[in-house]
Amino acid sequence: MKNILAAALLAGSAIGASAQGQVNVICSVQADWCNNIATIYSRTTGTKINVALKGSGEALAQLIAEKDNPKTDVWFGGTGDPHLQAAEQGLTLEYKSPTLSQLHPWAQQQAQQSKYRTVGIYSGPLGFGYNPELLAKKKLPVPRTWADLTKPIYKGEVQVANPASSGTAYTMIATLVQLMGEEKAFDYLKALHKNVSQYTRSGTAPIKAVARGETAVSISFVHDGPGEKMQGFPVETITPADGTGAEIGSMSIVKGARNLEAAKKFYEWALTPSAQEIAFAAKSFQVPSNKATRIDPNVPDFRKIKFINYDYAKYGSSSERRRLIARWEKEVNSLPR
Ligand code: G6P
Repeated sequence: MKNILAAALLAGSAIGASAQGQVNVICSVQADWCNNIATIYSRTTGTKINVALKGSGEALAQLIAEKDNPKTDVWFGGTGDPHLQAAEQGLTLEYKSPTLSQLHPWAQQQAQQSKYRTVGIYSGPLGFGYNPELLAKKKLPVPRTWADLTKPIYKGEVQVANPASSGTAYTMIATLVQLMGEEKAFDYLKALHKNVSQYTRSGTAPIKAVARGETAVSISFVHDGPGEKMQGFPVETITPADGTGAEIGSMSIVKGARNLEAAKKFYEWALTPSAQEIAFAAKSFQVPSNKATRIDPNVPDFRKIKFINYDYAKYGSSSERRRLIARWEKEVNSLPR
């Protein structure tokens, strides 16, 4: 893995000095991945890259706030639903990449559904993280279904993010609504609320808390598990037997971007197999969207997971996303625990 970084840096040192320009990127994936991208991209192209780390919901809020005077050129990563919402609200630019045909159908579909205002860059399944040592110590079983998480034995043991800031948590709500129907999903979320110790701002905080033994269970993207494990933490993942959703992590160019040419260059680079492999070097194990990108053995095997047929267009629409998050705030988050 380190070789990818070293090779890219080596290649970069030869051409880096001649190019110029800058690109401002909001990055909604894990910090290590964002940092590696910044280092490799600036060294290999000579372009100055400013990277701001933001959760998917927070990134969308920033683009809305900057609408009349955008300071961001590219929004890289994060769950696809808020990217679709940004597209619908006219915050992102229509751009048909010549690379589209090299991408998996789900990544192309994300582009088509947004009228080419976003594109899929990776995909990954939602599930649970758990700390096997902590579960054993507390004599708790591994949760296997969504319903398991609401059992009183897990009181105070579950962490999940806040859907207003985190795309992971919104993916959970949208998944449950599609799996159970909306009324039952909200009954479920109210029952789950009793067991939740904390709603974190970032979608990855809960699995990091699990890994460090601060909580026994998290609702997380399962591709975030192996990276924690590789650091020596006791953490495993599982996908619910009754079915789950997957994200289509996306990338968009901001409408009115000040550095438009640099933005397009970065976007094209980010769709290449060599750029997508940087994720693995940074211990992020989503399925990359370019069909030619090598698949790391740590990437979850989609064939072994029971998926719902996630309706990306519906749950990425502004009205639906806003409505579901507002309903969650009003009916769930406001309840005592
Ligand atoms: C992590 C995952 C990504 C996901 C992102 C969403 O970085 O590895 O696959 O898109 O979280 O973050 P958020 O904070 O918006 O839930």
